[in-house]
Amino acid sequence: MSDTPRIGLTGLAVMGQNLARNIARHGFPIAVHNRTVEKTREFVDAFGGSEPLIFTESDADFVAAIAPPRAIIIMVKAGQPVDDVIAKLKPFLSKGDLLIDGGNSHYTDTERRIRELTAEGFNFLGTGVSGGEEGALNGPSIMPGGPKEGYDYIADILTAISAQVDGVPCSTYIGEGGSGHYVKMVHNGIEYADMQLIAEAYDLLKNAVGLSNEEIGGVFDDWNAGDLDSFLIQITAQIFKTKDTETGEGYLVDRVLDKAGQKGTGKWVSQSALDLGSPVTAITEAVFARFLSALKDQRVAASSILTGPSGTHSGDKTQFIADIRNALYASKIVAYAQGFDQMKLAAAEFGWNLHFGDLATIWRGGCIIRARFLDRIKDAYADNPDLANLMLAPYFNEALKAAQPSWRKVISEAVNLGVPTPAFSSSLAYYDGYRRANLPANLIQAQRDLFGAHTYERNDRPGTFHSAWGE
Ligand code: 6PG
Repeated sequence: MSDTPRIGLTGLAVMGQNLARNIARHGFPIAVHNRTVEKTREFVDAFGGSEPLIFTESDADFVAAIAPPRAIIIMVKAGQPVDDVIAKLKPFLSKGDLLIDGGNSHYTDTERRIRELTAEGFNFLGTGVSGGEEGALNGPSIMPGGPKEGYDYIADILTAISAQVDGVPCSTYIGEGGSGHYVKMVHNGIEYADMQLIAEAYDLLKNAVGLSNEEIGGVFDDWNAGDLDSFLIQITAQIFKTKDTETGEGYLVDRVLDKAGQKGTGKWVSQSALDLGSPVTAITEAVFARFLSALKDQRVAASSILTGPSGTHSGDKTQFIADIRNALYASKIVAYAQGFDQMKLAAAEFGWNLHFGDLATIWRGGCIIRARFLDRIKDAYADNPDLANLMLAPYFNEALKAAQPSWRKVISEAVNLGVPTPAFSSSLAYYDGYRRANLPANLIQAQRDLFGAHTYERNDRPGTFHSAWGE
């Protein structure tokens, strides 16, 4: 292999550094670049001895160090910084060069960039990369979207550096336009829902069952040995075993302020859901729960004013812990069903040919939502690629049926004890709504027709009707 790289990476924050090292370690020499040259120097000094990382200084040096047609990965903060980097590199690029945005960009920005750059003879891929710092270094899940010829040029590298599960790479071409970033956005939304569901289970284990941190860690360890086996459950168990070294007393989780932050990808899923008419309740409740958590001062003030029940579960604690596990599993199925449903709506709206089984396949490893459960989703779409909703696949239908008594019991008990479980509850409400052949929307249509002559359809004959109600 010639030492002149065909690939470069600009933006050497931790994700960028680790991705560059991952590429280099797979035998692809890579030119590296950062806005501040010192950072590039330090990075190449630290790792360039054993890994083929090529130091470059200016934008012009960086581009010149790569053999055309060039592949250049951009790893900077989403938004204006991506446009700024593109504008700075553009004067030095040749027609046919490929830019790959590996950040969490909004899919509409990606669509715009593809339009603009394609018109100028360049190629552009909007590529979701999941797995945090560790994944970027040792194998992320990669979701590339945009012109297929751009993907084909870089496929060998993306496939080599991605996580592998059972010998299958966690990277595949997602589709045209902004589909790669859209799918990554939904991945993050599911991540939000998963995290919120786990947090609700924690609240119940702590406040309704009365378990200690050590015991809660043990419960998550047990859960991780079954169907719930996943990265997020595993790290949750780890969190509950971590002591506070700052004070030398107690557990670190109890010293963490209960205000959840966010960079916005979960919110984007909900915004897109409103445009598409997608009832993605679990993700949206997770976003709202983060907003509510952020109202810390108000909550502290309200805690001594607003009243409600409290107390612990009076029944068999071991059974209730098993019920919480089942409620978590059922709610998780709903969250994924909603996320996949939204991707189906988006694919229809934007003309993307998404392969849902492939998405489940590349999320099995590397990414934050990696889980044993994704094998089941992959199988469900292999059995029926046109599945209307994941909940209808035989495995998930059975799982929901089996979990249902626990699911209802946990939510009822949470309501009685005053423990907020918005994601558990909204998931069950979605399930109950989806399985109903008749909903009370007939009344809403009647009201709309009465006060605004908005008309309605009848269930016994075709046509559009307007009536004089109550006359
Ligand atoms: C990933 C993650 C990552 C995301 C963080 C934090 O797939 O590696 O989704 O892209 O930035 O998880 O997201 P929030 O700050 O929005 O919680």
